[in-house]
Amino acid sequence: MPHVAKLAINENRLQSHIDELALISENPPPVVTRILFSDADLRARAFVKRLAEEAGLHLRQDAIGNLFVRWAGQNPDLPAVATGSHMDAIPNAGKFDGVVGVLGAMEALRALQRAGIHPKRSIELIIFTAEEPTRFGLGCIGSRLLAGTLSPEKAALLKDRDGTTLESWRRQVGWADGDLSSVRLPQHRYSAFVELHIEQGPLLDKEKIPIGIVEKIAAPSTLRLELTGVGGHAGAVLMPERHDALLAGAEIALAVEKAALTSGSADTVATTGIFRIEPGAVNSVPCQAHLEIDLRDTQARTRDSALAQIERSIREICRRRGVTSALERVATDPPVICDPKLVSLIAQTCSTLGVPAKPMISRAYHDSSFMAQICPTAMIFIPCRKGYSHRPDEYSSPEQIKTGVTVLAHTLAALSSAG
Ligand code: GLV
Ligand code: MN
Ligand code: MN
Repeated sequence: MPHVAKLAINENRLQSHIDELALISENPPPVVTRILFSDADLRARAFVKRLAEEAGLHLRQDAIGNLFVRWAGQNPDLPAVATGSHMDAIPNAGKFDGVVGVLGAMEALRALQRAGIHPKRSIELIIFTAEEPTRFGLGCIGSRLLAGTLSPEKAALLKDRDGTTLESWRRQVGWADGDLSSVRLPQHRYSAFVELHIEQGPLLDKEKIPIGIVEKIAAPSTLRLELTGVGGHAGAVLMPERHDALLAGAEIALAVEKAALTSGSADTVATTGIFRIEPGAVNSVPCQAHLEIDLRDTQARTRDSALAQIERSIREICRRRGVTSALERVATDPPVICDPKLVSLIAQTCSTLGVPAKPMISRAYHDSSFMAQICPTAMIFIPCRKGYSHRPDEYSSPEQIKTGVTVLAHTLAALSSAG
């Protein structure tokens, strides 16, 4: 680490930016909802562009809407150091998930500028498009395309609930000039990527430790299931004649829970987070059910065997109930091991700053999961109250955020001064 005096973070301005961004939402406060391509998503982008301009930083947007805020280094030909996160938010979310890693990184850059540092390597803040899966059922669309783990052809054809494709949305919002194939970045474009994020779990808060250093990111997977039964009059169709899509779905949701509980790993978690039925009338037997299932584990082996168990249960339940199923594996991603050198650099930075830190596993997925495919990657976690996240009462204090931003800024200083 270079001899940089402890960098001064302007936590008041950062907090007021976090508060301002939280008001850019599809729902009134304290709820934050910012779904890809919504008016709130587009206004949040305009907000962050304004902050980049105010900081005198160069901004580029790629064909999927990933934003790159660049502070040119003394040697712009060297691979840059990258940081960043996302600003989109699931329905009924809070104001810190992703945002701390975007606005916190912006403040880290400003702190480095104020300290008169001239980085050798350029530093780029990346604001990734659609880390959350809300519109298309697939998370991390921006970072998957950057890393090349999602093909541009498949991305273009992703459909939302209304059947509108991603390509058609790109046209509607005026991003269609560039081709999606131009989003992919080469290996070694960045020398490192470090993401600051709230923990989204209870450990740091419970143990009163200000920083977590992520060594591993769990393996997530998502399934999408369409069940087609036979509808009919709720009074006229007798029970032995029924092929109720909701009841098949309900049994499947219980089988999903059971697959996690019996996987043999305490780290397996499974959620049926979306369950919609048609036609949705009290006096009509449900003929259609749409389920989306999220299954994760720290180990791919137990995740995969739970996945296979769920698929077997779906087949058995549907056969028994005379309901047909169409199952799509939307994503099955591997667990990610963070770069050991980067993890030790962050640990050393914390120790130099006198900030207690502990190694952690991230049970949530992040854009880091995909950046790790193209450059050395690690994450800095800060506590959030009781581990609450993906809900409006998500909270990290200004002091906790400041500590995270200080560690990030010093880590970026060290990485960008390396030859
Ligand atoms: C990210 O938001 C996740 O669901 O882990
Ligand atoms: Mn999230
Ligand atoms: Mn997040």
